[in-house]
Amino acid sequence: MKPNIVILTGAGISQESGIQTFRDADGLWENHDIMAVASPQGWQQNPELVLDFYNQRRRQLHQVQPNAAHHAITKLQQHFPVQVITQNVDDLHERAGNQNVLHLHGELFKVRSDKNPELIYNWHKDLQLGDLAEDGAQLRPHIVWFGEPVPMITRAADLVAQAGIFIIVGTSMAVYPAAGLVHYLPSYTPVYYIDPNAAPIAISNPLTIIREKAGTGLPKLVAQLIQED
Ligand code: APR
Repeated sequence: MKPNIVILTGAGISQESGIQTFRDADGLWENHDIMAVASPQGWQQNPELVLDFYNQRRRQLHQVQPNAAHHAITKLQQHFPVQVITQNVDDLHERAGNQNVLHLHGELFKVRSDKNPELIYNWHKDLQLGDLAEDGAQLRPHIVWFGEPVPMITRAADLVAQAGIFIIVGTSMAVYPAAGLVHYLPSYTPVYYIDPNAAPIAISNPLTIIREKAGTGLPKLVAQLIQED
């Protein structure tokens, strides 16, 4: 039986597409006050600043393309059942043809009612104050902000619990609950961690750290897994 491959991705997988990561030296959180632009309090205090921050991110997403790492996942899914769990709010996995993608932290090209989290809409342009949902409430980015619950985490934990191979790509593993997903892995499941700055992870699973960029490290690992199949 083919192993289920579950891939947890973070900002580093999109770095070579031209999207800034958060915590690297030139990362987004160097130049932006994280609580001002990505928290419910920030949204209450200065919604225009928040909208401007995500409008910039959305405009940038129109300018970039998936890279070799996203495409490697498309290749892998031709040989194995593959599930992607991403912390990223970009749509580069989908645009590369990755099929099963769960967004833990929301999606930049979606917005939702500020009052009813079920009222979600596709949105590719700038979002302004005065843009309203069907319920008359202001629309907000469909993003999980700091201090907010992560509704998809239960589904993600279930998927991780069924992983036969687990691959982590381009995440500092600094943000919970996403970083805690490794604790749902079956104890024998091998883990590969691709990140130029990967730090050891405190798990007892067999762990292979690959300190390379996603665009080179992931295609190599994919070729190896396909060859061993
Ligand atoms: N290839 C692979 N990894 C890379 C590359 C690259 N080309 N460039 C940078 N990285 C790695 C960095 O070494 C770092 O470990 O990507 C990681 C990025 O870490 P963070 O900036 O912390 O991003 P991430 O882990 O995705 O952050 C998690 O934090 O602010 C929130 O909600 C936001 O989803 C995000 C969450």
